[in-house]
Amino acid sequence: MAVTIAVLSQKGGTGKTTTVRSLHDVLERVGLDVLSIDADPQGNLSDYFDVDPTAQPTLGEVLAGQARAIDAVHGQVIPANLGLAEAELVLAGKIGREVTLRNALRDVKRRHDVILIDCPPTLGLLTVNALVAATHALLSTQAQHFSLQGVEQAMQIFDLARDTLNPELELLGVLLNIANMRTRHARETLVALQERFPGKVFDTVIRQSIAYAESAERARPILDYRAERGADYIDLAAEVLDRLGMSERASRLDEVRRETLPPRLLEAMP
Ligand SMILES: Nc1ncnc2c1ncn2[C@@H]1O[C@H](COP(=O)(O)OP(=O)(O)O)[C@@H](O)[C@H]1O
Ligand SMILES: [Mg+2]
Repeated sequence: MAVTIAVLSQKGGTGKTTTVRSLHDVLERVGLDVLSIDADPQGNLSDYFDVDPTAQPTLGEVLAGQARAIDAVHGQVIPANLGLAEAELVLAGKIGREVTLRNALRDVKRRHDVILIDCPPTLGLLTVNALVAATHALLSTQAQHFSLQGVEQAMQIFDLARDTLNPELELLGVLLNIANMRTRHARETLVALQERFPGKVFDTVIRQSIAYAESAERARPILDYRAERGADYIDLAAEVLDRLGMSERASRLDEVRRETLPPRLLEAMP
């Protein structure tokens, strides 16, 4: 059964989609069979994977009960489009609305090692569905004013999902994303997060770089586009694999580093 990680935050622009695309890529490079699911009607993740915008069926049809999840896999992703917003509205009026994604994913969970779910920028029904379908949650946050409150709100939804419908759900970690660690504010945010969520904040901080937006625009994973800018995601993958108890896979990341990073960066590493 696939380890299923929902990547969420209480708002947009915190790097969720980029995290899913980049982790997908790195985990694949260590030999895991990865499937990503776009649970945001904006379809940014689908674009990042360069899925044909007319591809059918999508997650919307799956949640509407009109298609099987297996048939909605296009390449390595179950894509989404604006139709997902409509599917969410229809879903809201149905019995079992919170468990629809979990039930729909049963078959695909047997076929992959890891499933990553990219949540929308709201803590609504789609995010709840993702948390109920997941084994783990990864909370992404940017160092901004009120970011701690944002993480608290996402944690409340996490607790709700765990306490009601998914008792096995685990908090994989809290990620400080799109950070400029030269600013005092970002450093203070990291400390505040560590104090509030002891042992849960990833040591890896994803540093800010324009290369991510460029890589998304070109629909290429960061390690393909500008590897030295994406090195943080190799470090994050190492922590993720360790926390999942898959350390033997993490040891393969050295090879990924050697294959992708420029020599001067490798020399600087411990
Ligand atoms: N580490 C980063 N540094 C700078 N920009 C980033 C970084 N990660 C993502 N971005 C950019 O920030 C914007 C929001 O990121 P995205 O992953 O789409 O967030 P979300 O899915 O939470 O809305 C996008 O334009 C993306 O390319
Ligand atoms: Mg997104």
